[in-house]
Amino acid sequence: MKVSQVRKYYSDKISELKKHNQLYFEKSSPEISDSKYDKIKKEVTELEKKYSFLKNLSSPTMSVGYSPSKNFTKFTHRVKMLSLSNAFDLNDLENFEKKIFNYLNNKVDIEYSVEPKIDGISASLTYKNGLLVMGTSRGDGSTGEVITENLKTINDIPHKIANKDFPKDIDIRGEVFIEKDDFNKLKNNFANPRNAASGSLRQKNPLETKKIPLNFIAYTYGYFKSDKIKKQSDFLSSLKKWGFKTNDHNKVLKTIKDLENFHKKFENDRYDLKYDVDGLVYKINSLDLQNRLGFTANSPRWAIAHKFSADSAFSTIKDINIQVGRTGALTPVARIKPVNIGGVVVSNATLHNEDEIFRKDIRIGDTVKIERAGDVIPHVILVDLKKRNKNSQKYIFPNTCPSCGSETIKEFNKTTKKYDAVRRCINEGFECEKIAIEKIKHFISKDAMNIDGLGKKVIENFWNLGFIRFPQDIYNLDYKKISDLEGWGNLSVSNLKYSIDQSKKVSLDKFLYAIGIRHIGIENAKLLAEYVKSIKTFISFVNKKKLNEFLNIDGIGDTQINSLKKFFTNKSNYNVITELSSILNISDLKLNKDGKLLNNTFMITGKLSNMSRAEAKSLIEENSGSVVSSVNKKLKYLIIGEKPTNRKVQQAKELGIKILSQKEWLNLLN
Ligand code: IVH
Repeated sequence: MKVSQVRKYYSDKISELKKHNQLYFEKSSPEISDSKYDKIKKEVTELEKKYSFLKNLSSPTMSVGYSPSKNFTKFTHRVKMLSLSNAFDLNDLENFEKKIFNYLNNKVDIEYSVEPKIDGISASLTYKNGLLVMGTSRGDGSTGEVITENLKTINDIPHKIANKDFPKDIDIRGEVFIEKDDFNKLKNNFANPRNAASGSLRQKNPLETKKIPLNFIAYTYGYFKSDKIKKQSDFLSSLKKWGFKTNDHNKVLKTIKDLENFHKKFENDRYDLKYDVDGLVYKINSLDLQNRLGFTANSPRWAIAHKFSADSAFSTIKDINIQVGRTGALTPVARIKPVNIGGVVVSNATLHNEDEIFRKDIRIGDTVKIERAGDVIPHVILVDLKKRNKNSQKYIFPNTCPSCGSETIKEFNKTTKKYDAVRRCINEGFECEKIAIEKIKHFISKDAMNIDGLGKKVIENFWNLGFIRFPQDIYNLDYKKISDLEGWGNLSVSNLKYSIDQSKKVSLDKFLYAIGIRHIGIENAKLLAEYVKSIKTFISFVNKKKLNEFLNIDGIGDTQINSLKKFFTNKSNYNVITELSSILNISDLKLNKDGKLLNNTFMITGKLSNMSRAEAKSLIEENSGSVVSSVNKKLKYLIIGEKPTNRKVQQAKELGIKILSQKEWLNLLN
């Protein structure tokens, strides 16, 4: 990368990091998972390491947390409240210890104070002459917020300490947190206990803080002078003696191997704790050595946080429910004991289908490992058989549809000569309640009729109120009745009306996709629309039972034809499409044959800015161009976005295909 490109890339990443810092630390409502956040931060740190010209003092990697809120008085910590560097594996731990030995320039005898890293929010308490005189949040590490009154509402925090050996002037530091059960009982909008603790602790009104059961566990000091205490573990014992809660699982260990073993054991044991723990903290136990080692910009050299897996966790299955999808598929869903996976509290996990339950022999009551990585739906990856109850029984998958009671079947696939893994309700139409609701949800979705303001929840609500039974009912809603409902104001009703009216004008392909025929996705709907050109012709194909003719279309095969036939043998499906065709203005498909891109073929690689692939494709097609899916001689232009696939670019160069940036491509249109 060129220097200018590096700078641009870096500054984009910094903006991203700052945005997420603010969401996390200031607003207590992050939009991304902790592991995604860690990844961005790691990338920024690595860029700074690689290109020394990037680093400056305002980089978010140089501080921790976020600037204190304007709601509170600021306070400059006497001793900074720093962060900890992270270790994820044995290698990181070995490097940590190696660096310590290098720094000390000799192989001293060391031991570690090992402490669970509670996933809460840190606070500092200043005691003078035994009295709690001030409490602060971490803020950006240098300056915190004065939240004394809020902290005083926490029962675990002593206001007065009478012990003779309690230092005359000391900052006690520790973690404020909510227990898992208390969090699950709370009705709130926070994603996890940490955010709830942070939000509650930083309420303007301490009475609000008091409503939420916060706890405090002490683990270190800020300002403090003593010759007597020589070890972190002794400091922890003193904390206990002075009346603070300390962690019962704190211990002293000697070697990296011991740390590794304890970490392995604790990673599983942590589910039995009342609070979320996201790792273990290892601190060099000798305070003398800690002093010699000192700090880097934002973390001590003498401590490290050894994190637990951020994308999987163990939990137990409380129940298994069967969901019925738009095409009748029965999907089993495990209701699990809520568990925090990388910052998201998960209480449901998909079990995919009947075969999956059978293969893994998943049962109600089982202890299971749940994975939640990226945007993938949380799912069960294994059953811990050692923890299975002796009386547990095999799960029996229902034979009938839990929604309408109809028969269910597993289809036989003639090509693979196997039965489908999925069991389905044989109902095709609106007679099955769950299928009907899912069909309507699909109808309004973004890629279909795209009716803003009619989300999935609203559809469920309107269904329960009896406002809708079929998609066409959407165009006959009683807006007066809606405006009387709780949560609906004049503005939201008029927005809803507007977006419903807007959706009346729709292209044929979108409409064919919206009616939700199995195996007719966006692409196949386009192919059908191009073939029939108008809704009238499409309906006449159905009436005249000429659906086999669609086999002429390249891309449409037996699977799609059979699905279309099955769909239209159902009367309610047929009625929906005929009724909608008289309500809506379904535009015929006119292929634009005189657009600027006529006879030009395009391919896109990499991410485009401000535009999805689908949108770019539509734009090309609206202008008579076509989009191909492989680099070959027929391709005229390769459009490259951010992070293109190198192989494609290389192939295009070899074949002499023109390469366009997004801007150059858009210029062709203008
Ligand atoms: S020691 C300079 N000990 O982890 C020493 N921190 O990333 C830093 N934390 O802000 C603090 N348990 O919120 C320490 N036993 C423990 C801890 C702990 C949780 C949190 C704390 C801190 C963050 C550091």
